[in-house]
Amino acid sequence: MIDATAWTWTRRLLVIAVTASMAALASVAGAPATESAAPDGDLAYGEYLSSQCVTCHQVSGHADGGVPAIVGLPTDAFVDALLAYKNGERDNQVMRSVTGALGLEEIAALAAYFAKLSPD
Ligand code: HEC
Repeated sequence: MIDATAWTWTRRLLVIAVTASMAALASVAGAPATESAAPDGDLAYGEYLSSQCVTCHQVSGHADGGVPAIVGLPTDAFVDALLAYKNGERDNQVMRSVTGALGLEEIAALAAYFAKLSPD
C-alpha cells in the first residue's frame, strides 16, 4: 500500500528536478548568457581553446603592452569579463570579436584552464 504523503513528496521532488534541469538546459542553449549559468569548465578543452588567446595573452602571466595578464584569474571573474565583452558591456574591439565565437561551455573551459596556471 502506497503512503499518500510519501507519494506526494516524491512527485514534488520530481517536479523540482525536472524544472531545474529544464532551466539549466534553457540557460545553456539560450542567449544572452548570464554569469551564474556557466557550467564547470573542462580543462583539456580549455587548454585546446587557449591557443587562440596566448598569441596575445602571455602564458607566463605577464602583461604585455596593452594586453593584460589573465593567468590565475578566479574563474568567476574570468567568466564575467568574457561575457561582458561578448554582450558589449565591455567595449574592446579585439576581445569582442574573440568572444563572439565562444559559447558558455568554451568560456567556462578557458576560465578553468587559465585559473589553473600560475604566473612565473
Ligand atoms: C589580438 C589579441 C588578443 C587575443 C587573441 C585575445 N585577447 Fe583577451 N584581451 C586583449 C586585450 C587588448 C585586452 C584588454 C581589453 C580592454 O582594455 O578591455 C584583453 C582582455 C581580456 C580579459 C580581461 C582581463 C581583465 O583583467 O579584465 C580576459 C579575461 C581575456 N582577454 C581573455 C582572453 C581569452 C580567453 C582569449 C582567447 C579565447 C583572448 N583573451 C584572446 C587581447 C587579446
